[in-house]
Amino acid sequence: MFKYWAKYSISPPPFFPNFAKIVNTPPRPAFSSRQLLYMPSTFQNPALRLSSEVNQTGQSHWQSPSNIAIVKYWGKFGIQEPRNPSISFTLSAAYTDMEFHYAPAENETEGIVLDFRFEGQSNLAFAQKIQRFLESLVRDGVFPFLSQFQFRIDSHNSFPHSAGIASSASSMSTLALCLCSMERDLFGTLADEKEFLQKASYVARLGSGSACRSVYPLMAWWGDGSLEESTNEYAVPCGDWIHPVFHTFHDDILIVSKGEKKVSSRAGHGLMEGNPYAHARYEQAYLHMRQLQDVLRGGDVETFGQVAELEALTLHALMMSSQPPYVLMQPNSLALISKVRDFREESGLPLYFTLDAGPNLHLLYPAESAVPIKAFIQAELLPFCEERKCIEDRVGNGPLRLG
Ligand code: PMV
Repeated sequence: MFKYWAKYSISPPPFFPNFAKIVNTPPRPAFSSRQLLYMPSTFQNPALRLSSEVNQTGQSHWQSPSNIAIVKYWGKFGIQEPRNPSISFTLSAAYTDMEFHYAPAENETEGIVLDFRFEGQSNLAFAQKIQRFLESLVRDGVFPFLSQFQFRIDSHNSFPHSAGIASSASSMSTLALCLCSMERDLFGTLADEKEFLQKASYVARLGSGSACRSVYPLMAWWGDGSLEESTNEYAVPCGDWIHPVFHTFHDDILIVSKGEKKVSSRAGHGLMEGNPYAHARYEQAYLHMRQLQDVLRGGDVETFGQVAELEALTLHALMMSSQPPYVLMQPNSLALISKVRDFREESGLPLYFTLDAGPNLHLLYPAESAVPIKAFIQAELLPFCEERKCIEDRVGNGPLRLG
């Protein structure tokens, strides 16, 4: 039967100027063929076509990292626009390394020809996904010149594919950077670094929402919100205003399970549309973003950790309250959470956790406390991990062009 759970009614939600806009915004209008000039607001530019006979070959080589959200993006509309703003740490050890080669297409009308290798092997599923993505970028006028070329892409991850950590943020941000380098090399556009990274972030977002935050060092903010230049279209960097203590943060990823999750993030975002708590959640995320601005500026590690844990548990509570409900945490995820909290209380050390859309725990702590915390992880937490596996990562300096 129904459970009785709340003695007093909850007070009316505080007023947030952009909240109604965030949750009620309809998808942006489709591309119009009259938009002939470069438009930084949508990054669509049909003029980006080579007019003479195409004979250029070229290449670029990028590494771009994964990221871990502190305030989570969960729920979307339109083409990968978030229902609420989010903020993440950019990582360093978990990255994709991509070599990207292009040559003139033999027959432009045949669609994009792509030879895609993942970890040195042909991979049809990934190849088809990327081919569809490139074709959508031609169709939507983001990179219309792509249909004039054929491609060879060699992609490697620094972490094993079956490690239980998502690779779409690192792979899609790396691909976006390669594509923007191609545009810059062919047309001389995107010469300004800020403009280049904005378009890379925009393109990464079209590939996989959270990937848009990976193109910036340290921390990135994505989504309409109280930050002056924030937008749903691309992420903006926060590294220059966060307190130095957050530059030193570790993220040790405890692998509770390497298995593929049963419900994809795409399906999870979709289920937010029918979730009865969705509006309250979007408002809470908005509130957390405002709160974190002060916390991150001031170096308040304790409040930061409290928000991070609340966000992680809220994300999973949303999954459990979706229709149909589902659970991605596992018994060992809960055992680890309990151990982390006990350790924090007993030692007084600033060890906090967050979770992605999966069972693995991300342990967040500043470098100054690393020695005792690493000893604790080794002795007390690794026995709860699959094959005692832990990926030791930390906040990083963002993508790197290697060629
Ligand atoms: O970018 P997607 O569609 O894989 O969704 C990512 C969602 C979370 O990782 C759970 C949260 C986030 O903001 O990264």
